[in-house]
Amino acid sequence: MDFKDLCLARQSCRQYSGEPVPQEKLDYIRECVRLAPSAVNKQPWRFLLIDKKEQLEKIYDCYNRDWIRTAPIVVICLKNEAEAWKRGCDGHNHADIDIAIATEHLCLAATEQGLGNCWVCNFDVDRLVSTGLIPEGFTPAVLVPLGMPADEPRPKTRKPMNEVWG
Ligand SMILES: Cc1cc2nc3c(=O)[nH]c(=O)nc-3n(C[C@H](O)[C@H](O)[C@H](O)COP(=O)(O)O)c2cc1C
Repeated sequence: MDFKDLCLARQSCRQYSGEPVPQEKLDYIRECVRLAPSAVNKQPWRFLLIDKKEQLEKIYDCYNRDWIRTAPIVVICLKNEAEAWKRGCDGHNHADIDIAIATEHLCLAATEQGLGNCWVCNFDVDRLVSTGLIPEGFTPAVLVPLGMPADEPRPKTRKPMNEVWG
């Protein structure tokens, strides 16, 4: 798959089959995430791969959509704002940019490995923190369900080129 085909193949997967996910695929994805760039190479992140039933239930409770319950794995993508680079001229904290890059590495690597995935930000952050799953100093930024996909490829709806590129 060339990079454009990968971009076309990645889509938000909201239905997963119960098939187990091979460990080699997870190891590959973990390494692709580890290689992501970050401002001043601060790597202000941590990723928690959750696959135990009891912990998954806690995460499902933080995102009120039934489809996420079909995912056998959820990755909690955490940012560390204290560790992240702050721009000198205005103090802008780059943790959100850094975590977004690494999270998209996760999603593209998962797609390349044939795994469904989806960015999820519309979860209850406070409730997730209160589960006790989140280490000190980190803030949950994105949830990424992972698993063998049970949905069909869809065409992309995107702005036309002339509205995207000036
Ligand atoms: C930052 C971000 C947050 C998102 N949050 C959610 C979410 O909470 N729930 C959801 O179902 N999809 C979420 N999505 C998925 C988008 O709806 C989806 O990427 C977009 O509609 C384009 O569709 P595609 O991913 O299938 O190409 C999110 C995507 C991004 C990039």
